[in-house]
Amino acid sequence: MIQDVVIDGDRVSFTIMLTTPACPLKGKMERDARNALADVKGIGQVSINWDSRVPSDQRIRQQVGTNFRNTIAISSGKGGVGKTTIAVNLAIELSRSGAMVGLLDADILGPNIPMMMGEDKMPPPRNRKMVPAEKFGVKFMSMAFLVKPDQPLVWRGPMLHTAIRQLLTDVDWGELDYLIIDLPPGTGDAQLSLAQSIPLSGAIIVTQPMQVAAADALRGLKMFEKLEVPIIGVIENMSGEFFGEGGGEELALQQGVEYLGSIPLDAQVRIGGDSGEPIVVINPASPAGQAFAEITPLVAARVSVITLSLQSKMIPIQMVG
Ligand SMILES: Nc1ncnc2c1ncn2[C@@H]1O[C@H](COP(=O)(O)OP(=O)(O)OP(=O)(O)O)[C@@H](O)[C@H]1O
Ligand SMILES: [Mg+2]
Repeated sequence: MIQDVVIDGDRVSFTIMLTTPACPLKGKMERDARNALADVKGIGQVSINWDSRVPSDQRIRQQVGTNFRNTIAISSGKGGVGKTTIAVNLAIELSRSGAMVGLLDADILGPNIPMMMGEDKMPPPRNRKMVPAEKFGVKFMSMAFLVKPDQPLVWRGPMLHTAIRQLLTDVDWGELDYLIIDLPPGTGDAQLSLAQSIPLSGAIIVTQPMQVAAADALRGLKMFEKLEVPIIGVIENMSGEFFGEGGGEELALQQGVEYLGSIPLDAQVRIGGDSGEPIVVINPASPAGQAFAEITPLVAARVSVITLSLQSKMIPIQMVG
C-alpha cells in the first residue's frame, strides 16, 4: 500500500494507496505509519499523501460492457423502509469521499430518486446516448425522466427487464467506482430482472427495528443469497423511541452477516426527502447525518473486501514446477 517513497535529507514523503477513498481505517493507518517512523533514526518531517484504487468487479465490464467497478443494490423485503433515502445519502457520502458515484433508480414503476435529489430532468442526449442528471457530485438516472408523472406504467417482467437494461447500457455513465442501485420493495420480478441484467457486487438489506420488518428483510436477504449476490450488510432505519431499535442488529447476528449501523427516525430526513434536500447535504451534523457518515466507510470497506476476494478467485492458479 506504500508507494512513491521519497527521502530528501531528513524529510520523508510517501503515498498510501487505499482500496476506497472512503476508507474507515485512514486515521489508524496514518497514526501507525507515523508511529513506525518515529522509531527510525534520522527522520525529521514526514508527509503522507493519499490515493485510492477501488478494486474492480471485472464481471460487470465483461458481461455488460459498462465502466463500473462495483454495483451495490439497496434492497428490502418491505416497502417504505427507507431504501431510496439510504441510496441517495450513501451515494452523496461516497462521492464526497472522492469516489466516482452513480445512482440508478431501478424502481421502474415507482421512481423516487429524482424527487429526493431535487431534479426532475436529465440533460439532452449526447452521441445517441442518454446523459444522466448530476447533482451533489452524483450522476443519476430514473425512469421518471422518461415518462410523465401522470402516465401509469403497467408493465410485466420482460418489459421491466428491458427498461432496467436500457438504464444501464443506453446511458452515458462514464467511469464509476460505485453504482448504487435503488430497488423497489419486495422479492419479485424487479429484483430478479436486475440480478440477471448486471452482476451485483453486493446487496445492502434495509430493515426497520421492529419484528415484523425483520421477517420481510430476511426474505430479501435469502433471495440475494439464492441469487449468489454477497450481502454487504444490514442497515436499520428509523431507529428510536417510536419503532424501537435492535431488530437490524439481531437479524444480522442471526444470519451471520455484517451489521452496518442504524439511522435514527428524524423528521428532517423526511422533509428533506420530499423537497430534494438530502440530510447529508442540509444537516450533516445531525444524528442521522452522522449515522450516514459512519455507515458509508463501512459499506465501502466491505465492498472492497468482497470485490478483492472475487478477484483472487478469478486469478488462475499458477502451476509451479
Ligand atoms: N430515518 C428516517 N427518518 C424519518 N423519515 C424517514 C427516514 N428514512 C426514510 N424516511 C421517510 O420515509 C418515507 C419512505 O422512505 P423511502 O422512500 O426512502 O423508502 P423506500 O423503502 O424507498 O420506499 P419504497 O418501498 O416505496 O420504495 C419517505 O417519506 C422518507 O423521507
Ligand atoms: Mg424507494
